[in-house]
Amino acid sequence: MTFKAARPITKQVKVVEVGPRDGLQNESGPMLGAAIKSTLINQLAAAGLTHIEAAAFVHPRWVPQMANSAEVMQLITRHNHVSYSALTPNMQGLERALEAGVDEVAVFGAASESFSQQNTNCSIAEALTRFEPVAKAALDAGIKVRGYVSVVVDCPYEGVVSPSAVAQVAEQLIQMGCYEVSLGDTIGSATPARMLDMLNAVSQNIPVSQLAGHCHNTYGQALANVLCMLEAGVTTFDSSVAGLGGCPYAKGASGNLATEDLVYMLHGLGIHTGIQLDRLARVGQSISDLLGRPNGSHVGQAMTF
Ligand code: HMG
Ligand code: MG
Repeated sequence: MTFKAARPITKQVKVVEVGPRDGLQNESGPMLGAAIKSTLINQLAAAGLTHIEAAAFVHPRWVPQMANSAEVMQLITRHNHVSYSALTPNMQGLERALEAGVDEVAVFGAASESFSQQNTNCSIAEALTRFEPVAKAALDAGIKVRGYVSVVVDCPYEGVVSPSAVAQVAEQLIQMGCYEVSLGDTIGSATPARMLDMLNAVSQNIPVSQLAGHCHNTYGQALANVLCMLEAGVTTFDSSVAGLGGCPYAKGASGNLATEDLVYMLHGLGIHTGIQLDRLARVGQSISDLLGRPNGSHVGQAMTF
């Protein structure tokens, strides 16, 4: 008997490396220097990553680790084939990001009211209203805009999140001009069936080609969730080198799926990413050493011990 995936799996996947932002934003202790961050970003580009979330122009009181984002952008050795993006929660963030010369920005909303308040100090509706001029001004400046929806399955404050709430926020992000919406399992509690229920709701009105998966790995489900989203036709996934990070407003959330683990699985499925896994594994080990913590990637550990 031959077993086949429900849908033929794609031959190419876009990997969005979010370690320098989603990973490093969560570091406690003194702010990491811009030279360390820009070196990491340069090494990721050298390993073949072409989409790197490099910075966040948020309030430094809310996320102190991102306070030197402008300096980081300045120190990066830029490559034309690499897109360096940043989070921009409002017009002030966008102005700072444009000044710093980012290639792309991302606005970030949530599917639960409590998470929206904790993360951006406003309701879901207020956040979306704030994003509209941000998206318009970015597009007018020739900058692409990505949208995030956080807590797409569970919220750390409210529990289960309804798929229709996620679909509504995602649709509004697309309507305001986001070319893609990244669906964040912020606390990493999703399992494949729940992820697919959510994806079914969101993809009623948005083509899967405009959706991305952003899986944190708190419960070790991230790769399983990626695989089921891949089979459903999603071809863009966010991940973080060495599994760095978490979310400062989601207690207990661990880092994103490690990029090394994602790439190892994708390559094993015959999917092209353009990423050199051995180089990436060395980058993951060196940033883990520098931060003085165990490497959060299984593949990284296996390849670099
Ligand atoms: P607020 O306090 O409501 O802002 O924060 P405000 O508009 O009332 O302004 C208050 C002060 O902030 C003013 O300064 C502004 O100038 C300043 P003051 O007069 O007090 O000196 N301000 C800023 N400064 C620098 N940059 C800015 C900026 N905006 C205002 N952009 C705000 C609202 C959204 C700014 C705040 O809540 C914030 O910065 N939140 C960011 C939180 C964050 O970065 N969270 C982590 C990223 S999201 C995430 O990790 C999830 C994701 O990975 C997906 C997933 O996993 O689910 C994307
Ligand atoms: Mg995240």
